[in-house]
Parts: sequence; C-alpha cells; structure tokens
Amino acid sequence: MNSSLLAAAPWWRPDTGDTLVIQGGRPLVGTYPISGAKNAVLPLMVSALLTPHLVTLHNVPANLDVAVLAALLQRLGCEMHWSTKADLSVTISADRVQPGRIDPDLVSRMRASVLLLGALLARCGEALLPMPGGDAIGLRGIDFHIDGLRAMGAAVELEGGMIRARAPRGLRGADILLPLPSVGATENLLLAALHAQGTTTIRNAAREPEIADLAACLIAMGARISGLGSHVLTVEGGAPLAGAIHTVLPDRIEFGTLALAAAVTGGALSLRHGRIDLLGVAASSFAAAGVDLQQADGGVVARRARNGLAGVDVTTGPYPGFATDLQAPVMALLATAAGASAVTETIFEQRFRHVDELAKMGAAIAVRGRTALIRGVDRLQGATVTCTDVRAAAALVIAGLGADGETRLGGLDHLDRGYDRMTQKLAFCGADIARLG
Ligand code: EPU
Repeated sequence: MNSSLLAAAPWWRPDTGDTLVIQGGRPLVGTYPISGAKNAVLPLMVSALLTPHLVTLHNVPANLDVAVLAALLQRLGCEMHWSTKADLSVTISADRVQPGRIDPDLVSRMRASVLLLGALLARCGEALLPMPGGDAIGLRGIDFHIDGLRAMGAAVELEGGMIRARAPRGLRGADILLPLPSVGATENLLLAALHAQGTTTIRNAAREPEIADLAACLIAMGARISGLGSHVLTVEGGAPLAGAIHTVLPDRIEFGTLALAAAVTGGALSLRHGRIDLLGVAASSFAAAGVDLQQADGGVVARRARNGLAGVDVTTGPYPGFATDLQAPVMALLATAAGASAVTETIFEQRFRHVDELAKMGAAIAVRGRTALIRGVDRLQGATVTCTDVRAAAALVIAGLGADGETRLGGLDHLDRGYDRMTQKLAFCGADIARLG
C-alpha cells in the first residue's frame, strides 16, 4: 500500500508513530495556514480524467486521501507531476486512461472514489469499480449516483461487491431530481453530464462551496454549466474540454476546526486563508458559543470571546446549514462551555462515535436518537482515546489541547486522511504535541 502511495504522491510521508501524544492546557498562539479543501481537491483531481489535456491544481492539501486518490488515478493511466515550490501543486495528464484498472484496496479506503464512476463513464463509456469505502458514519448509499447515471442512459449493475457501468453509445442529457442534496451525487452527475449529449439538469443539487469550486474549474476547461451556488445546476454537454489551471478553495472545515481550538485553549490564532463567509450558519453558532472571529488581511483571527464559552444548540444541515464535518469538533468545545447544549445530526446516521471517546475525557454527553445533549463541565482530563473518523479525530485533538494532562490518540489514519500536517502546524503554534510509537 505505502509503496503505491509513494510512487503516485512522492511528498507523502507516512508519519512514523501511531500514537499522538498531547500535553493539554497550552494556549495556541501564532499563524496557522489553512490548506486547500480536502473535499474540493478530490473531485477536482477526478475531473482531470475528463480531458486529455493538462489540469494543474495549486494549493493541494498534503493529506492521505489525496495520496490515495493519486495512486488510484495513476493505476488508471494518469501521469502526475508534483511541485512543492510554493505550495503543493499537481499537474495531471489523463492522455491515456485504462478504465479497468482500479485497485480495490485503495477504493475501499475512500468514499470519494465513487466519483470515478461518472468521470470514467463520460470519458471511456465504461467503468468497473469496487463498492467504495470511507468512514463508518452511516449507511452512505450510492443509489442517487446510480439512479442519476441510469437516467443518463448508463447500464449499471451491482454484483459481487462491484459496480459495473456501461454507456457504449455515450450518455445523454437528463432531468434529474435528487431525493436529497447529496454532495457526492451532485459532483458525480455533474462530471458525467459534461460528455453527455444534450442538456442535463440536476435539481435539488447540493450547494456546498466545494461544488462551486469544482464547477469553476470545469468552466475554465470549457464546460457550459449554469446555476452555480443554486439548487438547480444545468449542464450543456458535449463541449470539448481543454486543460485548466486552478487554485483549490481554502478548507472551511480545517478553518472552523482551528478556530474552535483557539477558543478552547484561550489562545489567539491567525488562520491564514481562512474565510468566515464559507462557514454558513456555523459562523453565528460559533459567535453564540464564544468563538470570536475577526476577518483580517489574508485570513481570520480566532480567539475566545471575553465572556467565555457558552452552550448553544446546533443542528447540522446541507450548506449553508451547520456542516456535519464540524459537528464533532464543536462538541469538543461545547463539552466545557457554560450551560447546556443540544447537537442534532441530520446528515449521517452514525456520526456520534466520538461521544464515547469524549466521555473518557470527562465530557458529560447523553445521546438521544439523533441528538446529543451536553452539560458543560469545567475541564476535560487527558485520556487514551481512539479516532473513529476524520472529524472525530479533529474533535479529540481539540479536546486534548484544552484538557488537563496527557491525551494519547490512536487511529491516526483518520487524522492523516483529512488534515495537512496538523501535528506540525499545531506545534508551531505552541502546542505540546508529538507523534510517538
Ligand atoms: N446518500 C444516500 N444515497 C446516495 C448519496 C447520499 O442515501 O446516493 C445519503 C448519505 O448516506 C448521507 C446523505 O445522503 O446520509 C448525505 O451524503 P452526501 O452524498 O452529501 O455526502 P458525501 O458526498 O458522501 C461529502 C463529504 C463528507 C461530508 C458530506 C456532507 C467528500 C469527499 N465527502 O460526503 O465529508 O460530510 O459530503 O457535507 O466530499 C469528511 O470530510 O469527513 C466527510 C465525511
């Protein structure tokens, strides 16, 4: 596994040490650079499959998911040239694509690999993909993806853990209504529609900023897409696609997570490239909880508000609703906020696995169905905990940074998947944090 990652993403250094040790209680102070968005770069990398011309992406986050996707694309015949001069950049050439060569081991590690379905169907007229993996946070069906591709004329069969899709005579435009504004289904169908004959309309499309970022890059390649940022995306298929040079949007989840960490530790972080406008509803929830954000030159300064941290009620929702990817991190803050909070998860069925881990650190949280009821305690105590998904990992880091004593985190693949050099960046801002083992 590591050898194929290193071949495709030579900058990827599997961190030695499978335990992250944090001595809590130190305020975070300094500048923390926010990387490109993980959930924007993955579909952007896949979009390179749609054209034989070069696609260059700047501001690529150096995380494990990017390395895994790079390895998948390499197996499919893409060439990748990385540059680490200013930021991490990649130029992808998908001149020759071989659709049958997908590594099940790699696909099982990442749900975003389902996006290969739409892109390969569009480019090659066929795709054979193992059912994708990813975090254990709910059912995470792919029925919307498959129904949409079928509406565009693809024959899709599921057998023996594989998805086999074919459109030998090409895809055709369709009018598709998504049952829910699914991020992945919107992206998959958008990619497929570019090579379909005629017009595709995606209704109840997701409006996450990462989708507008993907569409902006596709438009730069020559795609004809309208309705960006709205619930109805319209694609005129069949335009020849050129290459493009695109800078990946800053990661709003990394930004929100570090803002929470600054407030929890009572420090002040200058979050370079951070953008309050990308937080949606979370910006006002943060303000109510005592996370003070000030937009400044080139970023945002985040600190704890003068009146301290206060309990708030939060309900996750599609953008611009409170991001489910900030649900676990905000819970780490609310665990020591004054008063009570209720956090309701509406996107994924099983995204409360961090609750048991936070409880090991002294958090008082009771789960009632899809709502977690939190009674703020004075302090958390360091403990040995396990990361259960990408965002749970971030929550436990925040909790450990604010806790008394030592926290030891295992399951660090989850942290590596979603965050670009978090340990080093935190250490630069005064955290006592190291990877051991
Ligand atoms: N759903 C279905 N059928 C489908 C598609 C989705 O039932 O065909 C359901 C899912 O089970 C889920 C809900 O719809 O309950 C929303 O899922 P969505 O498709 O919007 O999520 P996703 O595309 O799988 C992306 C992000 C997630 C983020 C969600 C919601 C990427 C690579 N992943 O997932 O990010 O939480 O949108 O914003 O973009 C993470 O980064 O940690 C992460 C999980």
